[in-house]
Amino acid sequence: MDAVKAVMTRRSIRKYKKKDVPKKLIMKLIDAARQAPSAYNDQPWEFIVVKNKETMKKITKYKSKFMLDAPVWIFCGYNKNKSSTEHDLENTALAIENLLITAHAMGLGAVYTGGYDPGDKSLEKAISKALNLPKNVHIVSIVCVGWPDEEPGEKEMRPLSNMTHFETF
Ligand SMILES: Cc1cc2nc3c(=O)[nH]c(=O)nc-3n(C[C@H](O)[C@H](O)[C@H](O)COP(=O)(O)O)c2cc1C
Repeated sequence: MDAVKAVMTRRSIRKYKKKDVPKKLIMKLIDAARQAPSAYNDQPWEFIVVKNKETMKKITKYKSKFMLDAPVWIFCGYNKNKSSTEHDLENTALAIENLLITAHAMGLGAVYTGGYDPGDKSLEKAISKALNLPKNVHIVSIVCVGWPDEEPGEKEMRPLSNMTHFETF
């Protein structure tokens, strides 16, 4: 699948076949993620791959139950010790988008789920404990990955012309 088609057809997948995702494919997703641009080429990313259902259960107390059916979660975050700017969120979001698009192009399904809530620290604390995270590592998203078992319906989208401005707003 070419890159434009992958971008245009990617959707969030929340239903998965009961089939494992081999480590080789997971490594390919992370390899794609790390090709993303980052401020000053810091590459501050950390990816924690989890297949253990007990770990997943600890986290889904704060998240949606569908996530438990995903064969693999990739916690995507950044390491403050490897970052020289305040652009950690942008850097991490760009890497995640690479991962999502690559997963789709490879026939996998994935969904971005939030890894923290600015108003409530309980999810952040649970993740930190479950993954034994050092203090300098912050999770931005838990990306669920698996073999798709759904085809999402049409997505409502704001018109292109409504969000595009030429020269001035
Ligand atoms: C910052 C962010 C947080 C999101 N959090 C969740 C989430 O917690 N759970 C979930 O099921 N989807 C989550 N999503 C996925 C969005 O719901 C989804 O991307 C959106 O509805 C558009 O659908 P599409 O991905 O199929 O194009 C999140 C997406 C983003 C970018």
